Amino acid sequence: MYFFPWVQFIQKFLLLVIIFSNNYISNALGQTVTIARYIQTTDNLSTLSQILSYPGLADLFTLLNSTVAVTLFAPTNEAFLSSGIDLTNANGAFVSNLIRYHAVPDREILSKDLMPSLVVNTLLNDSSLVHLPNGGQVLYLMKSIQGDITINNGNSNGNSNLPVKIIQMDIVCTNGVIHIIDSVILPPLSLFDTANNLGLTQFINISTNANLLSNFNTTIGMTIFVPTNDAFNRPNILSIGSTEKISLLKLHAIIGTVIYEIKDGMDIESSDTGKKLHFTVKNDTIYVNNGKVEKSDILLQNGVMYVIDDVLLPLDGSGGNVVSNNSTNGFDNGYNVQGTSDKKLIVGTVLGGICGGIVISLFSCMLYKWYRAQKNSKSVTTSPTSININNKR
Ligand SMILES: *[C@@H]1O[C@H](CO)[C@@H](O)[C@H](O)[C@H]1NC(C)=O
Ligand SMILES: *[C@@H]1O[C@H](CO)[C@@H](O)[C@H](O)[C@H]1NC(C)=O
Ligand SMILES: *[C@@H]1O[C@H](CO)[C@@H](O)[C@H](O)[C@H]1NC(C)=O
Repeated sequence: MYFFPWVQFIQKFLLLVIIFSNNYISNALGQTVTIARYIQTTDNLSTLSQILSYPGLADLFTLLNSTVAVTLFAPTNEAFLSSGIDLTNANGAFVSNLIRYHAVPDREILSKDLMPSLVVNTLLNDSSLVHLPNGGQVLYLMKSIQGDITINNGNSNGNSNLPVKIIQMDIVCTNGVIHIIDSVILPPLSLFDTANNLGLTQFINISTNANLLSNFNTTIGMTIFVPTNDAFNRPNILSIGSTEKISLLKLHAIIGTVIYEIKDGMDIESSDTGKKLHFTVKNDTIYVNNGKVEKSDILLQNGVMYVIDDVLLPLDGSGGNVVSNNSTNGFDNGYNVQGTSDKKLIVGTVLGGICGGIVISLFSCMLYKWYRAQKNSKSVTTSPTSININNKR
């Protein structure tokens, strides 16, 4: 205790700095390990850990082990097992893309951030799977009144009716947050495959005949309203001529803009130039012109699909202003907001704190040495640096 007092002084000071920074990290962030480390050390995430060790995902592993903010949706071992996905081919592009679809770069999304929904870009940007105007394929996150969080609301590609659920939320790590999920999140399919899976055969037939399907299927960025088979089979629709049908089908698509959040009162120009779509939202039900939305936010490789109960007809031209495609879209809503600034602030403050602490420690050390030198030696002219620690009592 009494022996190297100034060494102890520095030790205590540094300890305080460390405790302070650790507390800061722990209070703000919970875990004191990176996302990658957490996955490596958690039994029920060992399949994910194994996949992340494949060379094709080395960059993602590096990111998850860095200081850059990420939100990761981590499927359990059981989720991978029940997905039936062949993971022995984990070096293949499919598995690599699949895992990238579970990672949201540059932000830390906590359950409290969902009020009640959020659309976020992921790291899945492979041009064979994603044709969106702004970044990687999105995840559609939704929180129920009870606080349960689901992903892609079960409609994502018409393959499944069960939404992916978060079973353990907000595992905060030093570089972001992990949410453990009960199923693997499958990337969205093309419009064609999705419509097919949902049995929307009339839409496929009619838009193929009108030479519009391949266009709708591949355009970059699209919002499409797909009427049910019943809607197309109504006599007034069946009797429409083929030229009018083309125009009518174009009214069902908004090109270049992906609208994930439809707001009451919105007016947007359709791909049938000059003809607009008018939206109304009442008691959580969305209406567009004469149609009612039956299934919403079905994600596609190139946008989003809504299934509607009626073939849309043009408005008679009165009321509402047509909003240009570029200014109104779902991106304003929960998109690209907040980002990394909070995280940077914390990291910056901690680094600043540590550096400041070291400077203060060194300064205090010098002061202490100077003080001891003054006190101990009668003929003082020693510069503080010449005092040897080991010679002190
Ligand atoms: C995963 O395992 C950890 C302990 O290793 C446990 O605390 C946690 O509840 C498990 N989570 C799930 C979703 O099974
Ligand atoms: C996909 O994102 C990565 C970074 O995560 C970037 O290096 C690459 O250029 C992007 N690819 C495309 C096709 O945008
Ligand atoms: C639809 O687009 C996808 C690419 O997104 C393509 O692979 C597929 O062949 C297209 N299908 C049709 C019928 O055009």
